[in-house]
Order: sequence, then C-alpha cells, then structure tokens
Amino acid sequence: MKLTYFGHSCFLLEAKGKKILIDPFISPNELAKDIDVSSIDCDYLFISHGHEDHVADVETVLKNNDCQVVSNFEIISWLQEKGHENVHPMNHGGKVDLDFGSVKYVNAIHSSVLPDGTYGGNPGGFVIQSGGVTLYYAGDTALTMDMKLIGEYQKPDVAILPIGDNFTMGIEDAIICSDFIKCDEVIGMHYDTFPPITIDHEEAKAKFNKAGKRLTLMEIGADKAF
Ligand code: NI
Ligand code: MN
Repeated sequence: MKLTYFGHSCFLLEAKGKKILIDPFISPNELAKDIDVSSIDCDYLFISHGHEDHVADVETVLKNNDCQVVSNFEIISWLQEKGHENVHPMNHGGKVDLDFGSVKYVNAIHSSVLPDGTYGGNPGGFVIQSGGVTLYYAGDTALTMDMKLIGEYQKPDVAILPIGDNFTMGIEDAIICSDFIKCDEVIGMHYDTFPPITIDHEEAKAKFNKAGKRLTLMEIGADKAF
C-alpha cells in the first residue's frame, strides 16, 4: 500500500493499483494550498462522515472522476439525490469485498451532519485490507471501547488516528487507542488545520515513543509506502 497525505484527514491510498481518496478537504485548507484537488485521480472515494472538513471537495472530485463512493447509507442517499449513481452504501459492522481488497465500516463516536443541514447518519471509520496489509482509518472519533474489537479481530498493521484533540481524540487517547487496536504504527490526522487543534509535533512524537510506539506526521503532499 502507498499513502499520500493531502492535509487534515484527507489521504489517497493506493492498493493493488487502485486509488482510494478519503475525506477530501483540500481547497478550503490553507495548509494544503499547494495541492490541486482537480488533478487528483481516484477509483474510489471513501467518506467517513458528513462534516464540511471531510466533504468540502466531494463535488469537485466527482466531477473529475467516475469513482465509486463508499460511505454510510445517509451520505450515499444525499449523493444519489444530487445525481451520483456510482455508489456503494454501507452501515456499521458491514464489510464488503471490492477489487483491491475489503473494507469494513466501523464505529466512531462523533456527530455527522452534511454542510446543507441534511442528516449525515452516524459517523464511522474504515478498516481496509489489501494484499495482506490491514489499515485502520478511524475518522473523527473519541476513544471508545469498540476499538478493542479491532485489536482483537482485525489487528491493523497501520492506523490513521485523529490526534488534534478538542473535536476528536488527542494524543493521550490516541496512544490508548493504539493499545486497544494492538497497533504501534500510527499516522496522525485532524491536527493543525484550525487553532483549537494545533499540536506540538515533537512533543506528540515523544509521547508515542515513550509508550513504545511510532507516530508519523506526514508532510502535506508527501507519500509513504508500507
Ligand atoms: Ni467531524
Ligand atoms: Mn472533522
């Protein structure tokens, strides 16, 4: 798998030659001003929940790509009403096999309303398996005991966790989460974009190190293979 970071909670995952874009929020993000959202190609678009900072560029991505959208039932219904038919609705606990591997929509403790006020269903995260590698993308979430199920049964190799605090888990809870999910390789998201979620990078990495884990904070535009 290869991962490219586009800022905030937006990543492009490449697995078995397929490109999966997750939670596009690029054009409104000052930190991602060097990324051109209209140049992104993808085969799939995954959406974790309905908040603006996860769906802002959905329409642009769908205008430029005939990608399949994977999200919860309510967000998919919202897109179908706008005329997007290449969709795959899911709900919590459900797993589906796609051409690059499988994806399971898992619990997140958060809220979810779309920018126009439409109900966005309950928020979620994704457990993605491809080519023997398991990746957990937590979405926006608090620490929750449900994460222990992922540690028990999915055992991710890599986890993308929110670490910015205030709206989601902060560093301390993300470290506890990484214990719950039995994964020591963590990539941070949902930090620095807005003043309430600004973090000290070195301090955050040091706290993970002290717990025997590694926190990677990717540069926007950079990629990482695993
Ligand atoms: Ni959110
Ligand atoms: Mn968010």
